[in-house]
Amino acid sequence: MIENRDKIQIREISYNTPDYTKELVLRDKVLRKPLGMSLYDANLDAEKDDVHIGAFVNNDMVGVLILTKLNADEIKMRQVAVDEDWRSLNIGRALVVFAEESSKMKGFKTMLLNARKAAIGFYDKLGYEIISDEFMEINIPHYKMCKQLSK
Ligand SMILES: CC(C)(COP(=O)(O)OP(=O)(O)OC[C@H]1O[C@@H](n2cnc3c(N)ncnc32)[C@H](O)[C@@H]1OP(=O)(O)O)[C@@H](O)C(=O)NCCC(=O)NCCS
Repeated sequence: MIENRDKIQIREISYNTPDYTKELVLRDKVLRKPLGMSLYDANLDAEKDDVHIGAFVNNDMVGVLILTKLNADEIKMRQVAVDEDWRSLNIGRALVVFAEESSKMKGFKTMLLNARKAAIGFYDKLGYEIISDEFMEINIPHYKMCKQLSK
């Protein structure tokens, strides 16, 4: 549990640093291993151009997300993951709010994402709307969701 003395810090992670290596471990553990997959089977080279954001408690990484620029107006949130031991503590929310604020400051107008069906309620609470029919990605049902950042 988070103790009073613990502080959640949300900050950007630089590509190809020790924190980036930790980020990959966390994403593999939360987003791929439970599906019988490995993150390391994918080509991650393009991630050098992404924005990587981590949530830290006492310098331990407990959450992560990535932002990929789609065009001048639209940016995509991907790989949103909070360590199982640290869920329901508003860490996911803090990551998304940080991502929205930093994207807005850079001039992006719309945040897009492919939400796992099981996570729809999380994004719904954060103001995201479903904009597609259900589709399959990594063998599980997803929906496209979006939020206007200018509102
Ligand atoms: C989805 C996930 C990122 C949420 O992180 P979290 O830190 O536990 O979420 P938070 O504590 O910030 O929750 C914020 C709000 O969303 C709600 N919420 C969280 N996960 C939810 C879910 N799966 N379904 C419905 N509501 C959810 C919380 O109850 C909370 O609501 P409240 O404001 O009424 O209290 C986390 O559960 C996770 O990593 N899941 C596995 C990976 C995953 O599915 N990632 C998303 C891929 S698209």
